[in-house]
Amino acid sequence: MTETLLARSITVSSSQPLLALDDVSMAFRTRRGLFRSGEVTAVAGVSLAIARGETVALVGESGSGKTTVGRVSLRLLQPTSGRVVFDKQDITDVPEERLNWLRKRTAIVFQDPFSSLNPYMTVADLIAEPLVIDGLKDAGVRRAQVRAALAAVDLTPTDRFVNRHPSSMSGGQRQRVGIARALIRNPDYMVADEPVSMVDASSRVEILNLLHGLQRERGVTFLYITHDIASARHFAGRIAVMHLGSIVETGSARQVIDHPVHPYTRALIAAVPEPDPANRFLRRSTEQWQDTPGVAIHADCPHGGSLTLPAVLLEVSGDPGHAVACHLEPPRGR
Ligand SMILES: Nc1ncnc2c1ncn2[C@@H]1O[C@H](COP(=O)(O)OP(=O)(O)OP(=O)(O)O)[C@@H](O)[C@H]1O
Ligand SMILES: [Mg+2]
Repeated sequence: MTETLLARSITVSSSQPLLALDDVSMAFRTRRGLFRSGEVTAVAGVSLAIARGETVALVGESGSGKTTVGRVSLRLLQPTSGRVVFDKQDITDVPEERLNWLRKRTAIVFQDPFSSLNPYMTVADLIAEPLVIDGLKDAGVRRAQVRAALAAVDLTPTDRFVNRHPSSMSGGQRQRVGIARALIRNPDYMVADEPVSMVDASSRVEILNLLHGLQRERGVTFLYITHDIASARHFAGRIAVMHLGSIVETGSARQVIDHPVHPYTRALIAAVPEPDPANRFLRRSTEQWQDTPGVAIHADCPHGGSLTLPAVLLEVSGDPGHAVACHLEPPRGR
């Protein structure tokens, strides 16, 4: 990697983003016992911009901060610092009661189709609920929209599904209900948070293809959260790899997967054949360099300087749009 780094700090940017996170950090207060409290930094200095119609995959191990970034991007969480801009409007500090417009234009598909759907509601009521919240009183119009959403997620004939309860459906079917519910307001931007990790293997590809279709046919902008870098290649144009709350590498899916630079990305890719995300190899290879932060990069990096955290993203020379975290402070004067 000698001479592959430009001494130029970049943010992960695109010219006209629908969504932009600028230097976002998120710390959570935690309780330890009755009187002691602490703080967990879930996200540190994340900048990420997603263009209209684009799909960006956020990839990383459990606990790396992916869901937190997704929730901040929807302003379901207010970041501790940094800015969140949706369609040119700064939504960082807007109070919840003035975010109805954002709720109508955005949606989230959860990881767990078992716990995210109320088991006592029918499929029709679950999917129509956002419309009821929006005050759409005409039951006929609601029914028509529910049927259109069911058809869009291939739960047809729709008559067979409207009165069922999630408990009588397979994991793949439930996740389709979750997607139909997310679609009902025709959102511009969706966060799909590990949408297939709890779905049976046979439905995974179908559900990813379904989401892909929404992206192509409706122009939905996606943040696709996954620990599976291989699925990111098929679904996303761009990948951002997260580790310990920061983005350590970003670029087109091809740049990141075919020419990974950061040792953590390399470890993630090397671990792909093992289906279990908590596999031993991944743990071993990522811990190896965590124990000696900066060392793996230091061997090749043209910078000589002190360790800095969070790392700055530097563009890989000769590879526009591909950026990697450098954990070394560039020497003064460059
Ligand atoms: N509400 C919260 N209160 C305290 N700590 C939290 C909270 N939410 C997340 N965290 C912590 O922040 C870190 C990042 O969590 P996050 O859920 O964003 O990770 P993730 O990458 O989505 O992980 P997973 O792949 O397991 O879903 C973790 O250490 C987690 O324990
Ligand atoms: Mg998560």
